[in-house]
Amino acid sequence: MHNSLLTNIILLSLFHTAVIAAPDKYAAVLTVRQTSAPTDPQCLDYARTANLSTIGANSTYRSAFLQASPVGTIFNAQMLNAAILKLPALTGDEALNQACGNLTTIALAEAERNFTVGIVAQFSGLVGNPQEIKAGPELLPIVGLIILIFGGVWSFMP
Ligand SMILES: *[C@@H]1O[C@H](CO)[C@@H](O)[C@H](O)[C@H]1NC(C)=O
Ligand SMILES: *[C@@H]1O[C@H](CO)[C@@H](O)[C@H](O)[C@H]1NC(C)=O
Ligand SMILES: *[C@@H]1O[C@H](CO)[C@@H](O)[C@H](O)[C@H]1NC(C)=O
Ligand SMILES: *[C@@H]1O[C@H](CO)[C@@H](O)[C@H](O)[C@H]1NC(C)=O
Repeated sequence: MHNSLLTNIILLSLFHTAVIAAPDKYAAVLTVRQTSAPTDPQCLDYARTANLSTIGANSTYRSAFLQASPVGTIFNAQMLNAAILKLPALTGDEALNQACGNLTTIALAEAERNFTVGIVAQFSGLVGNPQEIKAGPELLPIVGLIILIFGGVWSFMP
């Protein structure tokens, strides 16, 4: 009787230790992840501002972003401009950069890396120049039609 109680207590305490020990392992994994991807709201705000400002300040990224985004250009331009205005204070904030890492530097490097693979912010598949004007043989009938319509108006004008 006593013996089985003791066994139970030992088993229970072993189980207890196992349960308590497990989160420790995950905690270590979590802290490692958090240093590279901060979940602190302050850091998230800094990351967002740095990313948007980097895109907004470079005309290449900016035009690609505005073209890819389904949201209106005026609204997006306001958002990018606000980020550009807000970033310098965050970049200069020593404590914030200590806590989150210099996300301004990261955003600059990452925006460039993203762009080389056709990604700007959350939009991918932007390989090539989005400003490029299409000019192929398919334009011939279109231009011909335009000449016919406009020319026709002049030719048959009474
Ligand atoms: C900002 O860009 C970095 C680097 O690409 C990315 O890891 C991070 O998720 C981005 N943060 C936000 C809030 O968009
Ligand atoms: C973060 O990086 C930017 C440019 O990469 C630099 O101008 C700024 O001084 C850095 N901020 C801190 C607090 O070191
Ligand atoms: C904008 O980004 C492009 C592509 O990464 C780069 O070649 C160009 O120098 C940048 N322009 C400015 C003003 O930083
Ligand atoms: C880089 O691309 C990822 C998605 O692939 C995006 O989450 C991140 O915000 C981009 N970074 C910047 C600085 O635009």
